[in-house]
Amino acid sequence: FICDGENIKSEIESMPEQYRYSLDRLNEELDELLKLGITNVLLFGIPNHKDEIGSQAYDENGIVQKAVKHIRKNYQDKFLIVTDVCMCEYTSHGHCGILHNHDVDNDKTLEYIAKIALSHAKAGADIIAPSDMMDGRIGKIREVLDNNNFKDIPIMAYSVKYSSAYYGPFRDAADSAPSFGDRKTYQMDFRSYNNFYREVEADTEEGADFIMVKPAMAYLDVIKSVSEVTNLPIVAYNVSGEYSMVKAAAKNNWIDEEKIVMENMYAIKRAGADIIITYHAKDISRWLSK
Ligand code: PBG
Ligand code: ZN
Repeated sequence: FICDGENIKSEIESMPEQYRYSLDRLNEELDELLKLGITNVLLFGIPNHKDEIGSQAYDENGIVQKAVKHIRKNYQDKFLIVTDVCMCEYTSHGHCGILHNHDVDNDKTLEYIAKIALSHAKAGADIIAPSDMMDGRIGKIREVLDNNNFKDIPIMAYSVKYSSAYYGPFRDAADSAPSFGDRKTYQMDFRSYNNFYREVEADTEEGADFIMVKPAMAYLDVIKSVSEVTNLPIVAYNVSGEYSMVKAAAKNNWIDEEKIVMENMYAIKRAGADIIITYHAKDISRWLSK
């Protein structure tokens, strides 16, 4: 999590050992990652200024754009940089798109999402990862990237993303909880089964290069089913609430953290994930090198 400001390394209260960094202190974290052999990063920006249209999200001097340029300049190609593309961290109302009355306007939002993706590509991102869940966003992003000489930049689609209470700690971290309502009109309903086929199919047809399932632990059945219907690499996002639950129990010595985390990772792999995004990455790397 990268924030505007100076000399900031602040721990996220509900996510122990996860920090928000300002750009001038980002190298501390990046150096540590390299030492641990971790070279893939997913960036989230936390801007100082939020407005109705999330204008900092597509500003070429926005926090994520600056962070990508900073990493490229300081570390050349040592890191594979993935950027989260969404509006909720940048809008004053905390929704993932542009509002019309009290609803997110899907089609209007697409223009903005594509603009954000393009600004990340221009800054030097390796992979674009849209998490907004608007219909048609993968096609729109692909079109805009292709038209601007970014044909080679892959799209990691948050395709099967449920409306989930497991994102709670992340919303503290990113200060992105919606100020009214919820995300149920654009994120998926966990009460119904099989509704993911349509999402996977649409994103695949529109040009996704990776299919993500999110959250992971409570959705292993979905990871499994999705892996049976696609040949694209499957990414499982082991989200903030899943991380914080393990950390909290471990802090109380109620569970063996290393054993629980590794069991969870194997479960996600067994279900069919090719790639796991997890806040436990640094701990796992330490344990694996013991
Ligand atoms: C932005 C976004 C969210 C997460 C990733 N990208 C929050 C949300 O959809 O509310 C959640 C990640 C996590 O909980 O670790 N749309
Ligand atoms: Zn969002």
